[in-house]
Amino acid sequence: MTDKISFQDNRLFIEDIPATDLADKYGTPLYVYSANQIANNFRNLERAFGIIPHAKILYALKANSNPEVLRYISALGGGADTVSAGEIFLALRSGFRPASISLAGVGKTDHDIDFAVGRDIGTIIVESDEELTIVSQRAAALGRTARVSLRINPDVDARTHPHISTGLKENKFGINIDRAAETAKRAVKMKNVELIGIHSHIGSQLTEHAPFVEAAESIRKFVLGLKREGIRIRQIDVGGGIGVRYRNAIRHKLLPVETKEEQCIDLDSLAKAIKDKLSLPGCEILIEPGRYVVAESGVLLTRVLYRKESAERTFVVVDAGMNDMMRHALYSAYHQIVPAELKNSGFSPVDVVGPVCETTDAFAVQRDLPSLKRGNLVAILTVGAYGYSIASNYNSRPKPAEILVEKDYARVVRDRETLEDLI
Ligand code: LLP
Repeated sequence: MTDKISFQDNRLFIEDIPATDLADKYGTPLYVYSANQIANNFRNLERAFGIIPHAKILYALKANSNPEVLRYISALGGGADTVSAGEIFLALRSGFRPASISLAGVGKTDHDIDFAVGRDIGTIIVESDEELTIVSQRAAALGRTARVSLRINPDVDARTHPHISTGLKENKFGINIDRAAETAKRAVKMKNVELIGIHSHIGSQLTEHAPFVEAAESIRKFVLGLKREGIRIRQIDVGGGIGVRYRNAIRHKLLPVETKEEQCIDLDSLAKAIKDKLSLPGCEILIEPGRYVVAESGVLLTRVLYRKESAERTFVVVDAGMNDMMRHALYSAYHQIVPAELKNSGFSPVDVVGPVCETTDAFAVQRDLPSLKRGNLVAILTVGAYGYSIASNYNSRPKPAEILVEKDYARVVRDRETLEDLI
């Protein structure tokens, strides 16, 4: 629930500021984030996982790597889950401590590895046998010992969108669980590598906790197996993937109720299940949520350019495109869309589309929405995760500005790009 983004007297507010004021001042399309929504979600995780002694939350930067958003999250006390030298660089610049940073990724370059070893980050999560050899070689060349974890692929179906499922044996991620013990044995013999952890990430936008529990069970067996071989593991990272609700983020009598049922993970039962499966002596537990921390904090404000009727459909063309927010184009993802000012207009089905020259450039298809016409401001909700972070300049469109709101204070945390930035 996005309780920091709400209607007051039929006007949409981000914390204490009307959406229309922000759009008038900073233009559209515009990403706006509520700082307190981020804090609330982070604290929900802290509270739920607080039942596990020494559990740590590493925020997955890929969800939203705006440097000021990162600074805000690092001040809340989290660590950082990164996938490139770029993300390590941003994490360090935003106040995350090196020891609280992990580096994952199936294709780390030598530069990524050198950067991680050189900055002495907490752990490098190794995803193949060959990568282990390279990490050891790079660490030796730098005269260092690299702490590593092994990402195992537990062959668990995360039951999410196939494009964001990562824990099946046909997926490219991690080391097949049947072979990983051999890799662990090699790792403990290496001079410039210290094996500290086991990692698994089975997918994103999980809406039930059973797949997590299944993966946790495999990890438990694996870690106990290693123990029997005399290999001690002191860190288990269960990855990210906690889903959020995209429908009915805001309910209001002048908005249609989004009927399709959406399941959601109950954090308390998830934390309890992980505690039950993975509380092993001397082993700390890590989670790497991205979406859960930031998704609900973000809205994309966009203005209606045209309304056009065709024989089959009514199109509402807005000034944001798939280059600004790609989730619908990539995964047919559902995001609630609301007018910034509600009137008692009734609802009718429309396609909300962007200006980009691609048929997939849409935000909603055949969606019941209140009447929208040229100049109206609308908000696409729950875009704080994987919104700006996967935006591009496709069609040579400058990227939008980003605004961080805290109560009644709004500040630009990234300038809108200009035409000059396209060169
Ligand atoms: N850890 C690892 C190793 C990951 O690969 C990911 C996400 C996370 C943590 C964070 O997952 P989260 O808690 O955010 O689900 N662009 C897609 C999502 C791709 C997720 C990639 N990996 C989307 O918009 O749904």
